[in-house]
Amino acid sequence: MTPKNSEHYKKALKFIPWATQTNAKRLQPGWGEFMPPFIKRAKGCRVWDLDDREYIDYRCALGPIILGYQYSEVDKAVREQMKNGVLFSMASPLELETAEAIIQNVPWIEQIHFMKTGAGACTACTRLARAYTGRQHILTSGYHGYHDCFALGWQNHGAPEILRDYVHEIAYGDLAAVDTAFEKHGEGLAAAIVAPYEWNEDTGEAYLQRLREKCNEYGSLLIFEEVLTGFRLARGGAQEYYGITPDLAAFAKAMANGYPISVFAGKREYMRTLEKTIITITYAGETLSLAASKATMTIMRNEPVHDHILEMGNRLRGGFAEIIKEMSAPAHEAGLPPAPYIQFDVGSEEENTKWQNRLFSILFAKGIFPSERWFVNYSHRVDDIDQTLEVVRQSMSEIL
Ligand SMILES: Cc1ncc(COP(=O)(O)O)c(C=O)c1O
Repeated sequence: MTPKNSEHYKKALKFIPWATQTNAKRLQPGWGEFMPPFIKRAKGCRVWDLDDREYIDYRCALGPIILGYQYSEVDKAVREQMKNGVLFSMASPLELETAEAIIQNVPWIEQIHFMKTGAGACTACTRLARAYTGRQHILTSGYHGYHDCFALGWQNHGAPEILRDYVHEIAYGDLAAVDTAFEKHGEGLAAAIVAPYEWNEDTGEAYLQRLREKCNEYGSLLIFEEVLTGFRLARGGAQEYYGITPDLAAFAKAMANGYPISVFAGKREYMRTLEKTIITITYAGETLSLAASKATMTIMRNEPVHDHILEMGNRLRGGFAEIIKEMSAPAHEAGLPPAPYIQFDVGSEEENTKWQNRLFSILFAKGIFPSERWFVNYSHRVDDIDQTLEVVRQSMSEIL
């Protein structure tokens, strides 16, 4: 590790478990000595570590950065709002303005409730579905944050084991598992909560269609978990991308270009359940994030944000394909354009991961911040992508 990073890391570990707050931001030894544990500054598509090393970033803060770091129109909206205050004793009018801006981009939504985290929004959706249907079981698929219901598969999870009786997990894209789960638990299922796309193989359409049909048949609610897909896969999220409409949805990461805000949202019929139950958090109406979200929504509506992301993502994915072909590398390009990646095909998963780790450790050393899924944002330009591909080419040749 470079000197300042190393010194700070040792100190941080003493007072902060993991030396970070976020599991995925923990240092990954497999990614080599140049993976920086800390970022002190970021702008556009670039980040700088404590030793002033510069990286072209494809992690986008694990998804939230959709326009680019320090995007001036968003930050300006935040600074303007700061002049009026951050949090009030009653709701700010900005809540309605932001809700309207979101609905303009995601027109199937009829009502919105603001939250602060992805996990909070997911839990709220399932609570609402239970309260609406009077049923207790849920079907889940994918990662939905750390809350009790969704952590049961983790080691030493600390959640009540009894929840296993009510939470049924299936693998993404497994149509047979959908059928079996509904046959077994359908009458008691309040909802199925599913990430519409899991960033690997895209089997979403058939899978979501089957879930929609089964939910209709059994009177369960379909919840799209759009924490990571929302405003990234398409402006209107997975509903726009796949043309399948859920009953409720959770959105979070890309909705405010990095500011902390999430929503649960959906059809009025289900959202109205809030008239007879309570889901509430103090900071949900925090205005700086609302201002950031409203600005982000407006930019997405008025500018070709998603066309650009698609174009840059395709350029990156196409470049990966060329490099792999040129070098006869044991790999293939994969992922939808907003988040492509290189999948090694050497052998076992463990072996493939080792190859990815070797590639990543060289990329970090050469000033690229890679990611398991390479997120592209609106500030990545052709030059950034081409510079990245040149480094990927050199790095790939070093590991072959
Ligand atoms: C798909 C998905 N759902 C839920 C979450 C949890 O979001 P948060 O960390 O904001 O609670 C994440 C975060 O990585 C996620 O990627």
